[in-house]
Amino acid sequence: MQQRQYRRMNSRLRRAPLTRLQWIAGYVALTLGTLILTYIFSDGLHSFRSKTHSLDHHDASLVLPKENVLGQTHGLNLKQELVSSHLRSTKLALHIEDSSLDLQAKLWEPPADKGFVPCVEPGPAHSGPKPAKGYLMVSTNGGLNQMRAGICDMVAIARLINATLVIPELDKGSFWQDASNFSDVFDVEYFIKALANDIPVIKALPPSMKSEPKVLKQFRSWSGVKYYEQEIGRLWLNYKVIKAAKTDLRLANNHLPAEIQKLRCRVHYDALRFAPHIEALGKVIVERLRSAGPYIALHLRYEKDMLAFSGCTYQLSTEEAQELTTIRENTPHWKVKKINGTEQRRNGFCPLTPTEVGVFLKSLGYPESTRIYVAAGEIYGGRERMSGLLSRFPNVMSKEYIATASELAPFFNHSSQMAALDYIVSVESNVFVSSYSGNMARAVEGHRRFLGHRKTISPDRKELVALFDMLDQGLLKEDQNLADVITTMHENRQGAPRKRKGPLKGTKGRDRLRSEEAFYTNPTPDCLCQQSDFPKHVNYEQNYSPQETEREGRQMESGVAVQRR
Ligand SMILES: *[C@@H]1O[C@H](CO)[C@@H](O)[C@H](O)[C@H]1NC(C)=O
Ligand SMILES: *[C@@H]1O[C@H](CO)[C@@H](O)[C@H](O)[C@H]1NC(C)=O
Ligand SMILES: *[C@@H]1O[C@H](CO)[C@@H](O)[C@H](O)[C@H]1NC(C)=O
Ligand SMILES: *[C@@H]1O[C@H](CO)[C@@H](O)[C@H](O)[C@H]1NC(C)=O
Repeated sequence: MQQRQYRRMNSRLRRAPLTRLQWIAGYVALTLGTLILTYIFSDGLHSFRSKTHSLDHHDASLVLPKENVLGQTHGLNLKQELVSSHLRSTKLALHIEDSSLDLQAKLWEPPADKGFVPCVEPGPAHSGPKPAKGYLMVSTNGGLNQMRAGICDMVAIARLINATLVIPELDKGSFWQDASNFSDVFDVEYFIKALANDIPVIKALPPSMKSEPKVLKQFRSWSGVKYYEQEIGRLWLNYKVIKAAKTDLRLANNHLPAEIQKLRCRVHYDALRFAPHIEALGKVIVERLRSAGPYIALHLRYEKDMLAFSGCTYQLSTEEAQELTTIRENTPHWKVKKINGTEQRRNGFCPLTPTEVGVFLKSLGYPESTRIYVAAGEIYGGRERMSGLLSRFPNVMSKEYIATASELAPFFNHSSQMAALDYIVSVESNVFVSSYSGNMARAVEGHRRFLGHRKTISPDRKELVALFDMLDQGLLKEDQNLADVITTMHENRQGAPRKRKGPLKGTKGRDRLRSEEAFYTNPTPDCLCQQSDFPKHVNYEQNYSPQETEREGRQMESGVAVQRR
């Protein structure tokens, strides 16, 4: 349906290219607009503070003047805009009011939950911790969200092998260079207490164990019960302490006992909460945002490491492209070195640029006054590269802007704690949009499903860039037609209940496991169950075409090495 519409539009537009005059007029208007916006916002823009995790210190900025933060000047413009656009086609004032309010509400309301509610309580057969055979020590790897998923999996593994879990060590050597330890990022006391009925957890290895035989083991990725109970369980014959060398993707997504899956959710969505000082500031930021009405959290993964990793150089200068290539070549654990940025983008593997996100959100119908919280570190290319988003949505803001400098000071040198703030604000937003499906986007998406299918819009990057290229070539205009196409394209990509996607047809072995949708992206049906008074036959949201599943699968394959978030 949407394909057809898109093709129809495509051919219509080919038949009627813009005249030269329209081109010139459009260009002049755009230039003027940009100049005016630059003038208006340049004063208020001030630099992102440089962060220890960056490779060098770009003067990025998307920080806007304080007066805008609470949106008083914008709060009611929402309605006006929609009304005026409707005036063109409708005559009855009364109807205008109604339909504009409807439209407005639709922008923010979550998809129907179809009666799916969390079901993570242990079943009647659940028993408390088994007598421990030994200790499981854990060395996590990756950025915040990769580490979080890994820790949850390690809890499940400790349960499978009857181990006492020693509080994990966080990765201090990743791209993000954060020296925080577990208790700096997570609420360690709550973690221990919340898991008391599942596994024993201790803060440090008992001194008596220091001289016992230990084994360092890199668990096989995507392993199931048999591997852990037998192959790893056998190690207890010779060792008292097993140390896991890595934590990413060590546990299978599917075909695990229901009790283990529910345990994973109890850890991810309850036991592993952030440290009190992080939760507290996160809450403050959310309250400040909410006090002015609904907001979008945008995970704008347009950061240097991601661009270097993915090889996406669209609209970058030769120098920038070279800088990114150099970073990729010098990062040993990124296996793919030669990447054609054009093909990468065409296949939908590139993060959307800030401008593309601006066109996308505008086309979905979000009015100019919409407040957008950008959950990200430094945007590559800084303020200049943000202009295409800012010109469409002036109320773009970040934590640096909503929280005071003194509130943020304890977080500044800790990228994991900064990322945790973004995570909280993203989970609590009315609408979450990600420009790239990385670790953070996936974790937030799953969490929002768990908390009641909060609206989570997943851009169809491959389809979108095809449209954006036509915009660039002047074959399309940023108008109502484009808006209709983009809106239709995303009707079923809003985070409604659906089952987790299984493996890709035709894949085998490890590729098969790799192609599955990750457990924490969508814990349905393991941790979200449909109440009995709802119709049994649910039309699960058809979120992805098979081709797209394939793309995401391949992307994940190369994405394994991407750290953080
Ligand atoms: C864990 O304990 C249970 C119950 O005591 C036992 O049946 C199982 O074999 C143990 N597994 C391992 C890997 O030790
Ligand atoms: C973690 O870091 C904090 C502050 O830097 C320190 O007080 C604490 O002792 C550390 N804990 C461990 C287990 O290293
Ligand atoms: C990258 O791919 C595009 C499209 O397939 C092609 O036109 C271009 O020549 C390629 N660039 C390089 C450097 O290979
Ligand atoms: C962050 O670390 C740098 C260098 O290690 C230090 O100069 C700076 O004061 C620290 N900033 C904060 C807010 O702690």
